[in-house]
Amino acid sequence: MVVSAIKGMSDIYSPEVEVWREIEEKARQLFLRFGFREIRTPVVEKAELFARSIGEDTDIVQKEMYTFPDRKGALLTLRPEATASIVRAIIQHRLHNIPTMGKFFTIGPMFRYERPQKGRYRQFHQIDAEVIGFEDPVVDAEAMYLAMLFLEETGLRNIELRINSLGCSLCRPPYKKRLVEYLKNYETSFCKDCARRLNSNPLRVFDCKVPGCREIVSGAPKVTDSLCEHCRQHFEKVCFYLDEVKCGYKHDRNLVRGLDYYNRTAFEIVAGGLGAQNAVGGGGRYDGLFAELGGPDIPAVGFAIGMERLMILLKAEVKKERVKRPDIYFIALNEEAREKFFGLAQNLRKRGLYVELGYELRSLKSQMRRANKFGSSHVIIVGESELEKKTAILRNMDTKEQSELPLDNNTEQVLIEKLSKENE
Ligand code: HAM
Repeated sequence: MVVSAIKGMSDIYSPEVEVWREIEEKARQLFLRFGFREIRTPVVEKAELFARSIGEDTDIVQKEMYTFPDRKGALLTLRPEATASIVRAIIQHRLHNIPTMGKFFTIGPMFRYERPQKGRYRQFHQIDAEVIGFEDPVVDAEAMYLAMLFLEETGLRNIELRINSLGCSLCRPPYKKRLVEYLKNYETSFCKDCARRLNSNPLRVFDCKVPGCREIVSGAPKVTDSLCEHCRQHFEKVCFYLDEVKCGYKHDRNLVRGLDYYNRTAFEIVAGGLGAQNAVGGGGRYDGLFAELGGPDIPAVGFAIGMERLMILLKAEVKKERVKRPDIYFIALNEEAREKFFGLAQNLRKRGLYVELGYELRSLKSQMRRANKFGSSHVIIVGESELEKKTAILRNMDTKEQSELPLDNNTEQVLIEKLSKENE
């Protein structure tokens, strides 16, 4: 029996993988301009890290974590997101004490045991960015601006930034109380999940997709109307800075997040064309998480973009042209010819050219067909008569021009010069 990949986990290969690399590179370049440094954390962590950060009563921790005992019985979890791991790493290595190290990004796979569907997978990839140490709303606005700028730079259009404020440890508890009082009036009408959330995590009711629950929630008190003065001013300032850089947004009073660590700013970037899973990115402020994980009391804000969802949205862009075409494709028509240019091909590669070899001594026609499939820009052909003349045929596949190339100690240099002249 053939062994296949695990459900909800994909292989990524050409030509998509070229687009992935391009996007990752774009993120790296852009994030560097904003002062971010890369951090790479393990994909496996102690299970308690996520339970304590994302929240015991969230769907992620309750239902979606890949948690398993190792050989000695320690409970480990495949990371469902990057924020908790990055915060752990910062605390562990005291990176917060280094003044120039306040911004971190990572790119890599995350794991959630969700029911796979379009845009929702069990292994997916995030581009994640975190800014630590600043309470000022200018940082929230800059994080959102960066997320939007990055998505726009990938070529994405028609995306919407939705923002909300979730309050703080001062104003949220009394709000929660009011919300529960309201929701209790409809206790028997909620879906099974929301009935459970009512007591454990009432704000999550706002995220329910079941029509009956949505209707009840539409009349519920909104967290934005219960903000304390500090949170209100913070939110206003976030909006001010977004306006300042003409970063469009919508205040979505129903927006809550699937992770518990957020306070004040929460945001999502949504796009049409993703179906039910319409968020291509999301994030917010999480001022209490460092202390929650036993570290110093440091404010922070961040976001993550889902690569697979971004790729779905960019699908039209995935074209073969992104795959690099060979500069030279060598066609040998007999063994002796192949012996002649095996070394030459390796030297040209060392000097930076992309070179393909016809490894099989097939007919000229069949080898030309293969060279064409690669989209080669030049083909070099050597057969019996070329060997006799100590030459090769160099064919420019775009212009169809053919010339004779002497095969001697100088061939490598002549080729490099010829090709770089053509590229001028
Ligand atoms: P999140 O909203 O859970 O936030 O995930 C961020 C993005 O990851 C989503 O908007 C989506 O594009 C993608 N994503 C999530 N789950 C899946 C899935 N099962 N399949 C495919 N894509 C998925 C976080 O993870 C936070 N750590 C973001 C953050 C960083 N907040 C502060 N800093």
